Amino acid sequence: MEIINEHGPRSSSPIGVFDSGLGGLTVAREIMRNLPSEKIVYFGDTARVPYGSKSKQTVERYSRQIVRFLKTQDIKAIVTACNTATATAFDVIREEAGDIPVIGVIEPGAVTACNGTKNGRIGVIATRATISSKAYEKAILGIRPDADIFAEACPLLVPLVEEGWIRDEVTDTVIMRYLEPLLQKKIDTLILGCTHYPLLRSEFRRLVGEEIRLVNPAYETARSLKELLKKNELLNTMARNPDDPMPYRFFVSDEPERFAEFANSILPVDVRKAERIAIENY
Ligand code: DGL
Repeated sequence: MEIINEHGPRSSSPIGVFDSGLGGLTVAREIMRNLPSEKIVYFGDTARVPYGSKSKQTVERYSRQIVRFLKTQDIKAIVTACNTATATAFDVIREEAGDIPVIGVIEPGAVTACNGTKNGRIGVIATRATISSKAYEKAILGIRPDADIFAEACPLLVPLVEEGWIRDEVTDTVIMRYLEPLLQKKIDTLILGCTHYPLLRSEFRRLVGEEIRLVNPAYETARSLKELLKKNELLNTMARNPDDPMPYRFFVSDEPERFAEFANSILPVDVRKAERIAIENY
């Protein structure tokens, strides 16, 4: 039976997922895999990406506009798939969301890292803005005050992934250059704190070996989202009818074709189109 929530959205309403661009599809992918009954409205701010090199004020302004747009889509929850937006604008996102439950990617990743580390030495890699915000440090130390955290901004990895240079010796060299200082600190856990890094997971595994635990916040967020929906009585428990229309909609702020191409390369569904909207009007 469907649960009707007194706030308005029902368990059959979609989940709003947003990111600065394409990378948040790694989070959408985990939601599709782990919560197959859920509908998704995804927004990628492809006209204004990257967020990782922008100021807090700018990311806050962009995030507000995106939440306002998502709220026009009858969503029941919001997933801030972007690490940078979670790190720098989460308070603003929550404020703008009002009654709608919101989840970001940082807390779920931090919890898993704290549960998994044996020596308490945790590495974090992310965009410059995420690293400067110290959001991962704060989240980790809130759970495990004795942890030692070693953080490294890796700005070159996003363009390499978007260029499709995944299995490439240039990318291997860049990864190793960034990871060297963390490996010297004897970390036993590494948080892949940027939407794009899970796409390099096999490369990280090959380069750092089996000893280091890799934490994928995209996966952890999908798991935490399930708990959040349950808690709010918003989990969709109805099995999906294969004849139902496509349960996922994609919106972008710039050219939709490239987005659809990238989406098709990583998602388990056929993305025929993305719709372009003028996000600055929200
Ligand atoms: N989505 C961003 C993040 O996870 C990476 C791309 C960007 O800089 O906007 O931090």
